[in-house]
Amino acid sequence: MWLNTEQRKINMTNYKELGLVNSKELFQKAIKGGYAIPAFNFNNLEQLQAIIGACVETKSPVILQVSSGARKYANQTLLRYLAQGAVEYAKELGYAIPIVLHLDHGDTFELCKSCIEFGFSSVMIDGSHYPYDKNVELTRQVVEYAHKYNVTVEGELGVLAGIEDEVSSAVTHYTKPAEVEDFVKKTGVDSLAISIGTSHGANKFKPEQCTRSADGVLIPPPLRFDILEEVEKRIPGFPIVLHGASSVPADLVKIINSNGGKLKDAVGIPEDQLRKAAASAVCKVNIDSDGRLAMTAAIRKTMADNPAEFDPRKYLGPARDALKVLYKHKVTNVLGSAGKA
Ligand code: G3H
Ligand code: 13P
Ligand code: ZN
Repeated sequence: MWLNTEQRKINMTNYKELGLVNSKELFQKAIKGGYAIPAFNFNNLEQLQAIIGACVETKSPVILQVSSGARKYANQTLLRYLAQGAVEYAKELGYAIPIVLHLDHGDTFELCKSCIEFGFSSVMIDGSHYPYDKNVELTRQVVEYAHKYNVTVEGELGVLAGIEDEVSSAVTHYTKPAEVEDFVKKTGVDSLAISIGTSHGANKFKPEQCTRSADGVLIPPPLRFDILEEVEKRIPGFPIVLHGASSVPADLVKIINSNGGKLKDAVGIPEDQLRKAAASAVCKVNIDSDGRLAMTAAIRKTMADNPAEFDPRKYLGPARDALKVLYKHKVTNVLGSAGKA
């Protein structure tokens, strides 16, 4: 039976009904405690199982992050129930960790509004590519709507190089510390993403921007901690977000390339720099590419080792296991959020 438009509508829901939390309290605790909350992107069941499994086992709070591309890929209705399922799954595993459902790089007011209606507890409005005044206006519009429902909002100042879903830039524009106070005051945002030299994807730097170690490994330029410190001075205690924070582990790139992959000059942010950032006012760290690499490496290897295998569970299962190992490592050894739930 085909349904009419009215019958096809799914009921609006508030995130609290799904058992989710917003990010406000988590960020305050993270700043005081000198650690950062992991924001892991997901599009599918295996990623979600790995994220929740890893964060329950390590007792870490977590931000489940969905880009607009992920929302189109996975379907907004399924996502809502997956997020609700994640809350229940954590309980079933034995420990009820705080879970935030966050829109990553929202690019319009309408998208943010729709996500809030579908149960997101946090949204990012990314107006960073617009002129300053337009960024302020758009961000304030989203904040005014979101705060009516107790949904937290992340804004962005400064532009990261790389592809951010609908938004992409070939070059980095560092955040101007002189703008942050005014931006936070005028928009009312709850957290601010800044640009201090990270970028999106697995090729964060061109080889000519890097130096090479004796064994040929590319070493990227250090992050601009001077900008971060200046930002912290101007908005003390305000939650700062770091995008583009994958480390692009060399062992994963090697597994991919020795099993038919072709990743050239892949380079990420060294983990010691992320540890340093997590101990500061940076209280949310976004990681997507490292998860993609871990999954791809496991799938390529399993397929190469077992060419007769055609049951998807036989390669998605090892991919899920590899993801879980990666996420546990991040929360325990890089972000410091283990044991904070
Ligand atoms: O910042 C970008 C995230 O890694 C999401 O990527 O737009 O391909 O889902 P995506
Ligand atoms: P990476 O590409 O470094 O994983 O960054 C992800 C991100 O910033 C999502 O918003
Ligand atoms: Zn991002």
